[in-house]
Amino acid sequence: MSSKQFHLTFSLMSPGHYRGAWRRPEADPGAYLDVDYYVRLARLAEEASIDAIFQGDSPALGPEIATGTSGGLDGFTLVSVLAGATRRIGLLPTISTTYEVPYSLARRFQTLDHLSRGRAALNVVTTGNPAAAANFGLSAHPDRDARYRRAHEFLDVITRLWEAWEPNALIADKATGQFGDPGRIHAIDHHGEFFDVAGPLPVPASPQVRPVIAQAGESPAGLDLAAKYADVVFAAGHTVAKARASRDDVRARAAAYGRDPDAIKYSLGLIVLVGTDAEDARRRHGELNATLPPVERLVAATLVSLGLPADFLGPDDVIRLEDLPDQPNLAAFSIGGYNNTRAVLAEGPRTLRDLVAHTAGIGVHRLLVGSPEQVADDLESWWRQGAADGFTVMFADTRVDLERFARLVVPILKDRGLFHRDYPAGTLRDRLGLPVPRLQPVA
Ligand SMILES: Cc1cc2nc3c(=O)[nH]c(=O)nc-3n(C[C@H](O)[C@H](O)[C@H](O)COP(=O)(O)O)c2cc1C
Repeated sequence: MSSKQFHLTFSLMSPGHYRGAWRRPEADPGAYLDVDYYVRLARLAEEASIDAIFQGDSPALGPEIATGTSGGLDGFTLVSVLAGATRRIGLLPTISTTYEVPYSLARRFQTLDHLSRGRAALNVVTTGNPAAAANFGLSAHPDRDARYRRAHEFLDVITRLWEAWEPNALIADKATGQFGDPGRIHAIDHHGEFFDVAGPLPVPASPQVRPVIAQAGESPAGLDLAAKYADVVFAAGHTVAKARASRDDVRARAAAYGRDPDAIKYSLGLIVLVGTDAEDARRRHGELNATLPPVERLVAATLVSLGLPADFLGPDDVIRLEDLPDQPNLAAFSIGGYNNTRAVLAEGPRTLRDLVAHTAGIGVHRLLVGSPEQVADDLESWWRQGAADGFTVMFADTRVDLERFARLVVPILKDRGLFHRDYPAGTLRDRLGLPVPRLQPVA
């Protein structure tokens, strides 16, 4: 633990991590495209003084559209609209360093930071879905090494662009008529393996100078990228031991880059299903489980993502640590999934049915089901054991569970002193206790 309180980010992913939640009797299947639906969620989150709202990214439609949403709305556009409907909450969409262009991306986020008065943040991924390549003129998804090399160069370029205006470059002297001082606005003249960017951006540095940078990717190359550039690491952790080891790892990597390890926040993802009490939680869990695809299909997909044949074992067979291949499947969405399964099986064998249930069938994040007190207890316990600096809270059924978490769980966390009562003053960066990058006046 390196701080007296943790931070909380809410995912807007809809209908929820139970992809079949759109089939619940009260659900509107089209809500995931509706602005009023998202404004309601963002305002609920802001009333609970949540640090930021978050949207993942998938720039390709997948075959799963046959049974539920695939991908979702563009996160940058979504949070830009929500910026106008909120005042304090941070805005954290996911962006791809593999498929975006650094100059235009730096400009968009700087604009969002100005217009939201210091609330912009970006979750950097290298894109997990290979189908994206065909949408951007590439014959194949670049391999992990190439993606992370490009990500390093991308972050180098955008951070230098954000910092290229000295603080006093805008003079606006009505008497003399001098507006800007070109001598204090610097080109970056970048020439690298992937990009050639002259710079600078057309407007001065934004309130945070650097919008908050989060990074989601758990391979060694992903953690190294985070250690060098990120303020926040968005991670999946299925056991306390694994989360703590991974948090320690990224803190040590940050220190090796000469950074203060406390300046990088480990934000653990988890999916919550909040009951009004334990019985209600159990009942809703059953109802949502009934919306999942057949367990045989989920088991087969899990086995393939682990690098095993789809028919290696059935739902009621037991899988042991020794059954896993020695190396992760490099074609999988994230190496994190393999590492987490290793961590779970290191604590004991499981049936595949159990393993799948542990992640609501999707396979990336841990599912937590309980009453408001049980959910609060779990978060407190993981945080006290050093597994996280905060949590990226995702929802089993976003329409229901986001409101319940905001209204029923957050007050308990506030009463226990684990989470701030109101928004502290300042920008998102200030509120998360992150250092402000020092602008370097060039001699
Ligand atoms: C917690 C977590 C969240 C992720 N979210 C996304 C996402 O929203 N969109 C996406 O394309 N990839 C996402 N990824 C995968 C990243 O694209 C990642 O950069 C890439 O696939 C390599 O993953 P790895 O370093 O974890 O092996 C996520 C990965 C993790 C661990």
